[in-house]
Amino acid sequence: MLWIKNVTVIDPAQDLSGLRDVLVQEGKISAIGENFQVRDVQTILGIEQIEKVKQIEGTGKYLFPGLIDVHVHLREPGQENKEDIRSGSRAAVRGGFTSILAMANTAPVIDQRALAEFVRLQGQRAGMARVYPVAAVTKGFKGQELVEMMDIRAGGAVGFSDDGKGIQNAEMMRLALEYAKMTGCPIISHCEDSDLAGSGSMRRGEVSARLGLRGIPASAESVMVARDVLLAGETGGKIHIAHVSTKQSVEIIRTAKAMGIDVTCEVNPHHLLFTDQDVTLTGTSLKVNPPLPSEEDQDALLQGLADGTIDMLATDHAPHTWEEKAKPFAEAPFGINALETVLAAVWQNLATGGKLTSEQVVKLWSVNPARRFGLAGGTLQTGAAADMVLFDSEYRETVTADSLESKAQNTPFLGKELKGFPIMTWVGGRLVMENRKIIPQK
Ligand code: DOR
Ligand code: ZN
Repeated sequence: MLWIKNVTVIDPAQDLSGLRDVLVQEGKISAIGENFQVRDVQTILGIEQIEKVKQIEGTGKYLFPGLIDVHVHLREPGQENKEDIRSGSRAAVRGGFTSILAMANTAPVIDQRALAEFVRLQGQRAGMARVYPVAAVTKGFKGQELVEMMDIRAGGAVGFSDDGKGIQNAEMMRLALEYAKMTGCPIISHCEDSDLAGSGSMRRGEVSARLGLRGIPASAESVMVARDVLLAGETGGKIHIAHVSTKQSVEIIRTAKAMGIDVTCEVNPHHLLFTDQDVTLTGTSLKVNPPLPSEEDQDALLQGLADGTIDMLATDHAPHTWEEKAKPFAEAPFGINALETVLAAVWQNLATGGKLTSEQVVKLWSVNPARRFGLAGGTLQTGAAADMVLFDSEYRETVTADSLESKAQNTPFLGKELKGFPIMTWVGGRLVMENRKIIPQK
């Protein structure tokens, strides 16, 4: 049993933002109220001895629903040298995430029920964040044959995606949207026309020209966003657009929503925090796909967040080894390691920078993803699972290779000090992280 006192609770699902006391019993939120006294707590929890209740002073801190990240690469099975489900789910709770969706671009690709079950079970064995598999749309990511969606859904998948690769064949995407309706799950689309993208390694523009790097035009993303929302409209299927990064994509999604199409989308914080102007030939930690946007695109992304066109934040946590990221820019793999630094970076630069409110940040990372993917959590309502984060907006930490639970260090914040971190994380009422350290589970 737990009593968190005098903490600023932010729970957008119940429009709550204010000082409260929170009680937890048997892994669930049992009450939220103002200024509880010992007698209240005894009555609500039905106990005599108040010593049985762990009391936490929350003054000056925030309590959020555990954050939900719908876009994480955990690399297991197959590339456990970069990350595995244990290290990735430890990194998640250290970053304030109590539920994560694991993408299917592993080796082998998650395209069968047994593989989805493996991911889910490895998540349970790790005992940290809740790990939900996202299964492939096409067998082996080949773009030619759909997976057995109903069967894989029964194995625990909550979405389908060939993320890492765009589905090039429009008829394949149309069929996927049609079949996915039976499962109730969205298709998550990594929108990238591979012919337009070519072998580019950053956004095409003045900076790519100056650096002598092949560029990826914004249209490589936006043409596929247009295609996929039209197909979702025609089939009545659910589409979720991953990592939106261009102005045109935001405009197309805004129009599609106005047309009544069942579309949601996410933006990755790195697309809000950096632009193509930040790219340097040696800074491969900023090599990411889709590539960092122009300033104009970034403004459109912020506008899309402000008016509700963009539904959620998601990290696209993409761990890679040091050796690979040490290659020349054009040869290094795409991806940013994000789970453990992203909340601080967003809080410090966007929430306290006035670009997003703290309520928006929590909403975009809790209730919105929970609703879209039909997940438990995302709120601290009475009776909900006690997935919670105690957040200290003043806590400062320097990001070092040793401090990270992730196996990889490909973050642009390595060696830098950030401010604003989770200091306690609970999953189903179990304390899994305290004072920035993982609590091993029995
Ligand atoms: O930057 C990225 N890294 N974008 C993707 O779409 C895939 C990901 C990865 O798997 O490394
Ligand atoms: Zn992707």
